[in-house]
Amino acid sequence: MVKILITGANGQVGRSLVEQAPATVSVSGSDREKSGDGKIVQLLACSSSELDITQADRVKAVMEQFQPDLIINAAAYTAVDKAETESDQAYAVNRDGVLNLAQEAKQRQIPVLHISTDYVFDGEKDTPYKETDSTSPESVYGASKLAGEQALQQSGALYLILRTSWVFGVHGGNFVKTMLRLAGERDTLSIVADQQGAPTSAASIAETLWRFARQYFGTGNLESGVYHFSNQPETTWHGFATEIFTQAYGMGLLEKQPVVQGITTAEYPTPAKRPLNSRLDCTKIQRTLSIEIPQWQDELSRVLAKLQNES
Ligand SMILES: NC(=O)c1ccc[n+]([C@@H]2O[C@H](COP(=O)([O-])OP(=O)(O)OC[C@H]3O[C@@H](n4cnc5c(N)ncnc54)[C@H](OP(=O)(O)O)[C@@H]3O)[C@@H](O)[C@H]2O)c1
Repeated sequence: MVKILITGANGQVGRSLVEQAPATVSVSGSDREKSGDGKIVQLLACSSSELDITQADRVKAVMEQFQPDLIINAAAYTAVDKAETESDQAYAVNRDGVLNLAQEAKQRQIPVLHISTDYVFDGEKDTPYKETDSTSPESVYGASKLAGEQALQQSGALYLILRTSWVFGVHGGNFVKTMLRLAGERDTLSIVADQQGAPTSAASIAETLWRFARQYFGTGNLESGVYHFSNQPETTWHGFATEIFTQAYGMGLLEKQPVVQGITTAEYPTPAKRPLNSRLDCTKIQRTLSIEIPQWQDELSRVLAKLQNES
């Protein structure tokens, strides 16, 4: 039997991880199910109220009680703009919380699969970022996420850091849901058109993390390292918004399509600075897992279809 602990299980990626997992149980539960490769999997998926990763004692207690063989950390402080004035909270979760998990993992010689962000880069490069490019975050959120990466790397635990970008999905708040709401309220929208990146579905991130987990349990090996993963192809927030409206209108989710005006980052000031170039080079993960990178337009269709079914 293998035991897997998921933290941040109520977030966008956390919920997708749970949806795609073989079984879900509460802290005291004991449901079990066979995974695809015949192993029995016991999953403990904790929301922030069930396991606050900033509480070292609580992390230790859950680890002692559950004795996981692998941790997937989907918990994070993700309020990018608020982090500029809530730096302590951002670091408490994104650095110290990760360290709490990493120290327990090191002691138990188990891996941590962790998620990080394109915001560890300053966006000044004019080609997609590789894992080997130097980091230089320009926001508190980005700096706190980088500090978490470093805490995990220096802990001595086996680890995998998946840097991703522009996450969207069925659960939680995200750009897709904001655009659908605004389309119902306004005829014209001004959307930033000079930041380049790639929207990435929470479902495809979860699928990729589960691939690594299966590989680890199948081979007993995990090559610690940083991997870039985003959906393809690259676009801008303006391009993403336009596609959301085209698809949503086409399937009857919207009664009308708003006019989408492109504006510059300078015309839409935010407390936290965003990288102009958020593009991630995904060659390494493609080779390692032998996967095709999903197209975000296809992922968007699936998300919109689910939202339509739920409405
Ligand atoms: N969203 C993006 O566009 C984006 C882009 C690049 C990378 N990422 C990274 O992808 C990962 C997943 O992001 P997401 O979009 O799924 O974020 P999300 O929807 O905000 O989910 C984060 C989850 O972490 C939980 N959490 C916060 N503080 C916690 C704590 N102290 N202990 C335990 N859980 C805690 C939150 O719980 P509450 O709901 O109770 O607060 C929330 O359920 C994160 O590492 C994030 O940095 C996200």
